[in-house]
Amino acid sequence: TMDRMTDGFGRRVSYLRVSVTDRCDFRCSYCMSESMSFLPRDELLTLGELEKLCSVFIAKGVRKLRLTGGEPLVRKGMMDLVRSLGRKIGSGLDELTLTTNGSQLAQHAVQLADAGVRRLNVSLDSLQADQFRKITKRGELARVLEGIQAALAAGLKIKLNVVAMRGVNEHEIPDIIRFGHLYGMDVTVIETMPMGDVGEDRTNVYLPLSEVRRTLADHFTMRPLDYRTSGPARYVEVAETGGRLGFITPMSHNFCESCNRVRLTCTGTLYMCLGQDDAVDLREVLRSGADDVELGRAIDGGIARKPRGHDFVIGRGEKPAVRRHMSVTGG
Ligand code: GTP
Ligand code: 5AD
Ligand code: SF4
Repeated sequence: TMDRMTDGFGRRVSYLRVSVTDRCDFRCSYCMSESMSFLPRDELLTLGELEKLCSVFIAKGVRKLRLTGGEPLVRKGMMDLVRSLGRKIGSGLDELTLTTNGSQLAQHAVQLADAGVRRLNVSLDSLQADQFRKITKRGELARVLEGIQAALAAGLKIKLNVVAMRGVNEHEIPDIIRFGHLYGMDVTVIETMPMGDVGEDRTNVYLPLSEVRRTLADHFTMRPLDYRTSGPARYVEVAETGGRLGFITPMSHNFCESCNRVRLTCTGTLYMCLGQDDAVDLREVLRSGADDVELGRAIDGGIARKPRGHDFVIGRGEKPAVRRHMSVTGG
């Protein structure tokens, strides 16, 4: 086995988030501009190369793999990758999971469960068809809801991700929580992070979760919970529903001190932090014919430089500190 990954601040890296494509069938306002241009396909790692890199990361101590995008389920041959990674569960890997917009979930739910996936995170920012369309530009709410039901029916556990946006979906957050909890799903509310240029001033929609919490206190009784995934959310239990509600607050209260993850893009770039630009080009190393040990060494070089924390700031007229779009690193 290879050396585990520990960064310069003593943080152990055990969680790899892999963006398998920068493409998406939606154009969520906080994630992409409507005129996004995508990478040429020949820039992408092949599915075989993605699997190879994941294997090296698992050998180096990764226990949890999350496939993201763009939208992971729009990548051709995606289910083959999921199946081959699923076979690694139990020998090194503890958990294989996806973050998806749900648009293709109805067709894939059963196959995902069969491949060993147990949990999924699904983005759901509105339960009103017209508002959903406004946020996602191209999304169809009914399809996503069908996808969610199909996944639940296949036995998958679901967490709903709600990006809190002032004047857009803030008044719907209690309804989304009730909906999620009614079907036994966890719900996390997320502060908008300023990544990439999305063609509008994000300051207008940024909503600190301290404010969301105050509003939610008018609807619900919330009790702090000990429950933690290896993700950044802090959870409460909602007494009225019995469900779990998480808050992800990278802006108002970051959680960098306990960060356990790094990110691999679909072009083989390893980012040490979501909110910072330092990276290692693993594709170049891979394509130069490097073996696993050499790949491991290139990874260690990046991990050693993992920053203490992210560079995000939200302020009027502030340019995003991180120029790449969320769809490149997958959140
Ligand atoms: P679990 O692993 O199931 O807890 O999920 P998660 O919440 O970590 O992952 P998900 O893909 O659902 O992401 C939810 C939100 O958390 C997204 O907006 C991510 O961008 C954000 N997020 C995840 N990891 C980090 C991180 O290391 N730093 C920051 N700033 N945000 C993160
Ligand atoms: N800020 C916060 N969350 C974001 N997501 C996408 N873009 C942003 C952003 N700018 C969320 C999506 C998805 C998750 C992976 O990241 O809602 O659920
Ligand atoms: Fe697509 Fe997710 Fe970005 Fe929305 S947030 S455009 S669903 S990648």
